[in-house]
Amino acid sequence: MTVDVARDGAVAVVTIDRQDALNALDVETLTELRDRLRELGAAEDVRAVVLTGAGEKAFVAGADIRYMSGLDVEQAKGWGALGHDAARLLETMPKPTIAAINGFALGGGCELALGCDIRFASSRAKLGQPEINLGIVPGWGGTQRLARVCGIGVAKELIFTGRTVNAEEALRIGLVTAIADPVLDRALETAHELAGKSRLALSLAKELVNMSPGALDHESQEFGALFSSEDAIEGLTAFAGKRAPKFVGR
Ligand code: COA
Repeated sequence: MTVDVARDGAVAVVTIDRQDALNALDVETLTELRDRLRELGAAEDVRAVVLTGAGEKAFVAGADIRYMSGLDVEQAKGWGALGHDAARLLETMPKPTIAAINGFALGGGCELALGCDIRFASSRAKLGQPEINLGIVPGWGGTQRLARVCGIGVAKELIFTGRTVNAEEALRIGLVTAIADPVLDRALETAHELAGKSRLALSLAKELVNMSPGALDHESQEFGALFSSEDAIEGLTAFAGKRAPKFVGR
């Protein structure tokens, strides 16, 4: 078992466990991760997903370099597509995904974290896109998502130099939103908080935030349409009634 899925109530914790290679992703591990994420995205009773790495040292130290060194062009395209699938599932599943970055998040590891909606880092975390030092480029969405999360200038500097950043710098540049030890506790706390909110409103918020700035019209339409939901009526009236809302997902 290289990808463990544990349940903590409505929260699923996905742990990548290949510690002898600092949780670097080979084809078996990445395929398993993609498959588990697909299941969790579809599971109605899972309301939030936390992604982390096993052990003390690494979140994910990247794609497996030994595996990649033997790939021809067609195989490399398939490898890129598999990583894209995993990152896109994290980005688009209709529930929040949180990266608990407990150590090295390099290359593909940083890209999986960037696919998540929220990133928290332990104080020992190190993040970056060192592909340039291997003569390649980020291939699982890093060129786009790092620029979206941190701005194009930061993304270019990090991708061009391959420099890694520590947790403090990651926080300063917006690559993570908090530093916490143990980071998994912080991720679980937020995941449980989000699991208690309206599933309907949260999934729409995610979809809207993911859209390009050109989608402002869509936002106003969807914002209005949401007011016909039981959850919006409940949430808005509960506030006025000074009571906690009870959301039903409709
Ligand atoms: N792919 C394959 N194996 C990896 C790996 C990766 N991305 N990252 C680490 N490993 C393996 C190492 O080869 C080593 O295996 P070995 O014991 O069989 O030799 C083991 O994990 C431990 O790594 P090691 O380099 O000894 O640990 P370290 O603490 O000295 O250094 C890193 C840690 C993360 C700085 C270093 O492993 C590294 O630079 N890894 C590659 C990171 C990278 O470029 N990722 C992007 C790939 S696109």
